[in-house]
Amino acid sequence: MVHLYYWLVASLAVSASNLHSINRHRLQLIPPPSNDSFYAVPGNIGTFAPGDIIKHREPPSRISAYGWTPTHVQKAYQILYRTTDSRKNPTAAVLTALIPPDADYNKVVSLQMAEDSATIDCGPSYTMLLSAQNNPLLISNITQLQLLVAEAALVKKWIVIVPDHEGPKGSFTASKMTGHAILDGIRATLQSHHVTGIGSNPKIGLWGYSGGGAATQIAVEMQEHYAPELEIAGAAMGGLSSLKNASGIFSINKGPSAALIPSALLGLASQHPELQKAIDQSLKPEFRELFYSPLHQCLQASSMLFSYQDILGMFRNESIPGLTAELIKAWNEESQDGASKIKAPLYVYQSVVDHLSSIQGIDALVRDYCNQGFNVHYERANSPNLSHVKYGILGVPGAVSWLQDRLDGKEASRGCLYHTDTTSTLDPNMAALYPRNISDALYGIISSSI
Ligand SMILES: *[C@@H]1O[C@H](CO)[C@@H](O)[C@H](O)[C@H]1NC(C)=O
Ligand SMILES: *[C@@H]1O[C@H](CO)[C@@H](O)[C@H](O)[C@H]1NC(C)=O
Ligand SMILES: *[C@@H]1O[C@H](CO)[C@@H](O)[C@H](O)[C@H]1NC(C)=O
Ligand SMILES: *[C@@H]1O[C@H](CO)[C@@H](O)[C@H](O)[C@H]1NC(C)=O
Ligand SMILES: *[C@@H]1O[C@H](CO)[C@@H](O)[C@H](O)[C@H]1NC(C)=O
Ligand SMILES: *[C@@H]1O[C@H](CO)[C@@H](O)[C@H](O)[C@H]1NC(C)=O
Repeated sequence: MVHLYYWLVASLAVSASNLHSINRHRLQLIPPPSNDSFYAVPGNIGTFAPGDIIKHREPPSRISAYGWTPTHVQKAYQILYRTTDSRKNPTAAVLTALIPPDADYNKVVSLQMAEDSATIDCGPSYTMLLSAQNNPLLISNITQLQLLVAEAALVKKWIVIVPDHEGPKGSFTASKMTGHAILDGIRATLQSHHVTGIGSNPKIGLWGYSGGGAATQIAVEMQEHYAPELEIAGAAMGGLSSLKNASGIFSINKGPSAALIPSALLGLASQHPELQKAIDQSLKPEFRELFYSPLHQCLQASSMLFSYQDILGMFRNESIPGLTAELIKAWNEESQDGASKIKAPLYVYQSVVDHLSSIQGIDALVRDYCNQGFNVHYERANSPNLSHVKYGILGVPGAVSWLQDRLDGKEASRGCLYHTDTTSTLDPNMAALYPRNISDALYGIISSSI
């Protein structure tokens, strides 16, 4: 499978080099968010209410997935809006509104993309632009893959909003920052008629997979507490994490996704100075620069450095208990007053074989939701060899069809519904959304042995 990913990346490099040189010159002038005043939190941020729109613009570069501009993006806008960080301070985040041709302005899906990175420069508002894909540190294959996923919603004429849910500091795994950014992104969307044309009372769906599924889960769990006025028609979330506590993150050490450890620690530390201090004091000096590299690169570049590596070994042995204690403290602060009654109907989709998640853990989560009386459709995929990434692609049509019913105003089934998903091939209707070179690569990922 890995070589197919390289294929996607390599062909992207080819298509980028084919660009007209003037165009390439222009692309290089577009600064990343950390150096782009549009993203700056204004000094008077405290005068805005959560969800207020601060400013907006059209994206400064072409939206692109593997060199292809999604057919169903007719217009796009970036909106900077007021939100609240994990420590209750006012701050600002950016969302991207993708408007399809002939849009239904009364149907909106907030698509939380997995960022899994620890800098604002990996926010999808930037990594979905061709200019980011020109930069080897900031190129993001997961953003590009999720733009293909967005296309499956856009073709339904739904407006898709994509919040940079890690906020201005790239606060990966900081639940409160994430939940606030998503919910305030929806508030901003509801006030965006003058920019986007969206109606004032649209049906709203939430959607996300993997890091984006975790973000979606946080938002629905926090909604009643933070944004009780919002009506969410339904939330589809998949590839969830079964980690119950902070130290669980160390269980992926030396594995294929070990790069998530530095991203998660640094992301959480951006909201928790004590954790930042503990990381700094625990690192062995020879690993310092390497460990901090996710502060200026996205997951794709980090994966090349950290996959299968011994991340825990970068810390002094005797400091690990203290570091773990700070991690648990920060994590617990993020979970406080987080979970409340979930009002939105849920669609949970999960492969039984997922290296980032134990199916027993997800079964238990769903059971817990059911016991609390939430409405859950649990789609449990039991086809063998359906890895985390594969089900992220194969699970799309099921999620879209469930969301369609919610956005059409059909009532979700009451209580809990368990369904076994036996899908093992790419839906041809989904494949037909993309140019041949891209659908071929998707077929390649699905049929690979990993
Ligand atoms: C930030 O932008 C300025 C000009 O706007 C440029 O001179 C500088 O090199 C940029 N810095 C980075 C790190 O991109
Ligand atoms: C795939 O094809 C599309 C259009 O047919 C093109 O725009 C894009 O650059 C190609 N992508 C790659 C990675 O070759
Ligand atoms: C944390 O979760 C792991 C499983 O992910 C479990 O083995 C461990 O006992 C838990 N630790 C605490 C302190 O709850
Ligand atoms: C993205 O690229 C990294 C680094 O090459 C690779 O490990 C990962 O599997 C790729 N992921 C996807 C979804 O293409
Ligand atoms: C640190 O811990 C690792 C694994 O537990 C062990 O292999 C190594 O010898 C320890 N190093 C020191 C200096 O204690
Ligand atoms: C699953 O993967 C294993 C190892 O690659 C392979 O032997 C087996 O045939 C695969 N099963 C299916 C149903 O694809």
